[in-house]
Amino acid sequence: MRKSDYWTPAPRRSLLDAMQTTDSIVRAGGHDFLLAFYKALRSVKLYPSENDQVQKAIQTLGGLADALCVTEGQLEVRIAGEYIHINTVRLRFDLDNYAVFFHVLATLRRCGIGTLTFSPGVEHAEWQSLLSHLVAFSEREGMPDLSGLWDRLAQDGVTHLALLPPSEHDAPLADSRQAKEVAKRTYEQCIAVTRDVMTAVRQGRTISVKKVKRAVQTTVDQVAKNEQAIVGMTTVREWDELGAIHAANVCILSIAIGKRIGLTKLRLYDLGFTALLHDLGKSRIPVDVLEQAESGNDEHRAASESHPWQGVLGLFGLRGYGAIPYRGMIVSYEHHLRPDLSGFPLTLEPRRLSLYSRIVAVANHYDAGTSHYGLNRRPDELLQELVKDGEGAYDPAIVKAFINLMGLYPVGTCVILDTYDVGIVHAPSADPTQLDRPVVRVLCTADGERSNPGRLVDLTMRDEAGHFEHSILKTTDPADYSIVPYDYFI
Ligand SMILES: [Fe+2]
Repeated sequence: MRKSDYWTPAPRRSLLDAMQTTDSIVRAGGHDFLLAFYKALRSVKLYPSENDQVQKAIQTLGGLADALCVTEGQLEVRIAGEYIHINTVRLRFDLDNYAVFFHVLATLRRCGIGTLTFSPGVEHAEWQSLLSHLVAFSEREGMPDLSGLWDRLAQDGVTHLALLPPSEHDAPLADSRQAKEVAKRTYEQCIAVTRDVMTAVRQGRTISVKKVKRAVQTTVDQVAKNEQAIVGMTTVREWDELGAIHAANVCILSIAIGKRIGLTKLRLYDLGFTALLHDLGKSRIPVDVLEQAESGNDEHRAASESHPWQGVLGLFGLRGYGAIPYRGMIVSYEHHLRPDLSGFPLTLEPRRLSLYSRIVAVANHYDAGTSHYGLNRRPDELLQELVKDGEGAYDPAIVKAFINLMGLYPVGTCVILDTYDVGIVHAPSADPTQLDRPVVRVLCTADGERSNPGRLVDLTMRDEAGHFEHSILKTTDPADYSIVPYDYFI
């Protein structure tokens, strides 16, 4: 036998190994670098430049950047959609580092930066100049001013650094109005296909799954690219006979939770599909029975509580799925069960609830509890209850992911600030240590003056003395101030 008959060429294999090793070094180093970048930005924002904490943060950051430059000759930080790439490696974000990613991403975007390239040997003073200008330019109102930022850096003698705007392909949606329009179309599409499916089941027709899958895929893409706008849509909690609005909300919230815990896109498609159809079984129960169950009729409540297993039967009627949607059936069956198997349907055999069921249960509980036709609870109260219940009734890891998504004052909550201004929560805080300090849209001043669309106030902002400029005094019922939260999201 000749050597070439059995010999695997070693060089290709070792090249691949080397590439994989380099990628994993860059990935680990990239995570550390981003965390250090985030800490340095925060230090520069909070303290004067000569402060020890600022100096130490810059030293750490410089050391990590130098190490990455040694590995690959230079360090490139590039934004692509909702991701950050370090050189050619896309960094993964998960529950623990999402806020860091979000803050760095938002800061670079507000400055109009798509790519930031560092050559080896960035000086301490260059870091100081970059960080302080990034903080200042990111806080400016209006359009990003990349050339203005570049001028400032040049005046400070920064030479080891290049800035580029985002490429067209990598650019986020141009403005919040466009983001809102796209999110609204996705939301409407989700509701429309759910209505079609529910109606088809009621009429005993075959369900076409293609449209449902397309709607779910668009929703997953929107959660990836445009999360704030699409999650804002779930503040619509109106009643509709077929429950399609509730289904769309549960679908969006479940996908956003799934993203937080690091599910892949394919798994998010799967999760979204099961979430959108979690209440399909209700379509097999007469509408008047469902309505009377809500008003406390025991017999009808028992019929209504059969919807989890009715959903399993309904899902057998799907055509075009490619395979029997087992995961959808499991979620339909389990979404009212708790980890200790309380809830319904009555389950005697021990079982561990599936991950998708545990996610959908939290999203379902939140949306049903805060809906106007349901319990109409205040979002923050319901969330606090979820945290307490998280010790038994809900998976604590999922509840944690949900709070990370919504903040302690979920989007759409009506709040009174310590200045007696009234507003609604527009977005959660980007800082995981300040989840009680969201961004609030002030709609009504202490003097009773109203404004539309109001001004956005970031509750993490501090004054020169280091005190928070605004804080939440308490939550309130938006109806008392004639505020309809979803008006500001759709
Ligand atoms: Fe249900």
